[in-house]
Amino acid sequence: MFGLLSLFISLVAAYPARGPCTGDCWAHDPSMIQRKSDGKYFRFSTGTGVNIMSSPALKGPWTDLGAALPDGSKIDLSGANTTDIWAPDVHYADSTYYMYYAISAIGTQTSEIGVATSTTMEPGSWTDHGVVGIPANSDYNRIDPNWIEIDGKQYLQFGSFWQDIHQVELTSALKVGSNTPYQIAYNASLNHREEGSFLYQHGDYYYLFFSAGIAGSYTATTPAAGAEYSIRVCRSTTGTGGFVDKDGTACTNSGGTMLLASHNQVYGPGGEGVLTDSDLGPILYYHYYPLAEKEAGGDGTAGYRYGWNELGFTDGWPVVKAA
Ligand SMILES: *[C@@H]1O[C@H](CO)[C@@H](O)[C@H](O)[C@H]1NC(C)=O
Ligand SMILES: *[C@@H]1O[C@H](CO)[C@@H](O)[C@H](O)[C@H]1NC(C)=O
Repeated sequence: MFGLLSLFISLVAAYPARGPCTGDCWAHDPSMIQRKSDGKYFRFSTGTGVNIMSSPALKGPWTDLGAALPDGSKIDLSGANTTDIWAPDVHYADSTYYMYYAISAIGTQTSEIGVATSTTMEPGSWTDHGVVGIPANSDYNRIDPNWIEIDGKQYLQFGSFWQDIHQVELTSALKVGSNTPYQIAYNASLNHREEGSFLYQHGDYYYLFFSAGIAGSYTATTPAAGAEYSIRVCRSTTGTGGFVDKDGTACTNSGGTMLLASHNQVYGPGGEGVLTDSDLGPILYYHYYPLAEKEAGGDGTAGYRYGWNELGFTDGWPVVKAA
């Protein structure tokens, strides 16, 4: 009886397996999109000039195409390395692919968000437009951009630690103008470990996904169990505020329902986004660190892998499904 009960508990607690991947399965803070012209999948990652990979299918085989901005960003930010470009976010509008990205000195508010455009997404096709012009403020860190359109208006979600996730309306795809950012999610605990937000509309709600916990620096002994990245979610009917978790706790008051935590070899899932697949519907994609590599000592960002699952919705809340 007890054996059956613990088997049942372990079954309900487990997450479904991640989707398969063949070819080059490295990813870091990925952004994924299907190209309109041919349905080909593109995956962009943090790194030198923003790494681009592509594949005929979600599961691969993935091929490394090179960098979007091999010479770095034209953003002039003293103290930060403008060749090392973080957390790309790519969307398609008006026959153009827009890529928001961040330049930063790690662990500081010396950061800026920029934008580049392309009509094909191929290496060599990207034009950098530099900063979008989010004003500096000690409340937030200008990294981890994410774009959405709500009722014909464009917005960027961004932020990492300090006062966590903020949102700002854009005056055009390339500029913030005089608009002022406002907070949409905040964890009051410790040093406010929320970043990597992604806003996605489905049914009656806008879902705010974010990464909670510690990204990277995964070694055999760090971080403490449970302190690593996990993917959380809150929802709102307007998309511009009022985000709550499944218990009704405000996302600005430390709320955030667990969507995906470490399981099996998938350690520290985060840096997530949602792609609306032309055949499968909503797909949650993320990076993770293979547990065996962490236990063997860890090897920095080179160890990150691409993970994905189909995303279902039950009673208005997202659930991770087997691929
Ligand atoms: C800047 O970052 C690139 C990789 O993105 C690296 O190759 C280069 O050495 C870095 N430059 C400095 C001065 O750290
Ligand atoms: C808030 O932070 C604490 C401490 O890091 C953590 O235990 C908790 O899970 C976090 N909650 C959310 C919603 O991120």
